[in-house]
Amino acid sequence: MATGLRKRYGDRAALDGIDLRIERGEVFALLGPNGAGKTTAVEILEGFRHRDGGEVTVLGEDPERAGLAWRDRLGVVLQTSSGLDLLTVREAVRSTARAYSRPRQVDEVIAAVGLADRAQDRIGRLSGGQRRRVDVALGIVGSPELLFLDEPTTGFDPEARRQFWELITSLAESGTTILLTTHYLDEAEHLADRVGVIAAGRMLAVDTPSNLGGRASSEAAVSWDEAGTRHTERTSTPTEAVARLASRLGGEIPRLTVTRPTLEDTYLTLIAPHVNTSAAEPHEEDVHA
Ligand SMILES: Nc1ncnc2c1ncn2[C@@H]1O[C@H](COP(=O)(O)OP(=O)(O)O)[C@@H](O)[C@H]1O
Ligand SMILES: [Mg+2]
Repeated sequence: MATGLRKRYGDRAALDGIDLRIERGEVFALLGPNGAGKTTAVEILEGFRHRDGGEVTVLGEDPERAGLAWRDRLGVVLQTSSGLDLLTVREAVRSTARAYSRPRQVDEVIAAVGLADRAQDRIGRLSGGQRRRVDVALGIVGSPELLFLDEPTTGFDPEARRQFWELITSLAESGTTILLTTHYLDEAEHLADRVGVIAAGRMLAVDTPSNLGGRASSEAAVSWDEAGTRHTERTSTPTEAVARLASRLGGEIPRLTVTRPTLEDTYLTLIAPHVNTSAAEPHEEDVHA
């Protein structure tokens, strides 16, 4: 999709040689801190920003040269909402539907984003999260082959986020290719076939959420209480370590936990050199002996 993608703003490099390959039918999440270059990358792929260097092919065409037939195959949800305050939800979705050659049914789309009971309301009267759902509706109404979503769930409550996840899952199941940016790790983990971690204009890692940064093969931490102190042993064979402990301590192991790095741990370790925040505490999941 893109190789060696470069973009400068003045003397600052926003993208410093990004490679990105997304397969048909895949859900790909671009993860990264604010200012990483996510929006810049996505807008170049959408044909909304000029690049300074690199090769880009999206649905077989260079976005800078592609025409309306190409745009008809894309769905776009930009990071900032469209200002359609005076239109009702149904009017906005219907007028966007008319711009596409194979539109989805307007009321089905409105229901799919959970706005059936607000269809007659002006967009200006909706909450921030509800407006974001309108943006998503406008992005999917054209039955896109490829859907771009730039931080689609910012401002969603947990219920809205879950509903959005279901929608994305069903779009993916029906064959839509999806590129989304997010800074919610649970969202990437839940939705994405593959995740790309971007920071300071560079792609630091691309992998499945479960393999990212060697997570699946990394060592587990076995922790327990003994003689008034907490002990931790790092091991690639935690089952054996627990069995050994159990036999040595002769029964229940006090406050036993077995943990592996979460996606968040891996992500924070990857981006740590590029941001000023320190890595979070390891996440502990209790495993009962
Ligand atoms: N239009 C612009 N003019 C100047 N600098 C910009 C512009 N858009 C983005 N930038 C800068 O480029 C970098 C990447 O921004 P952006 O792509 O929006 O990152 P992200 O979406 O990951 O937060 C940031 O340092 C940002 O300040
Ligand atoms: Mg952005």
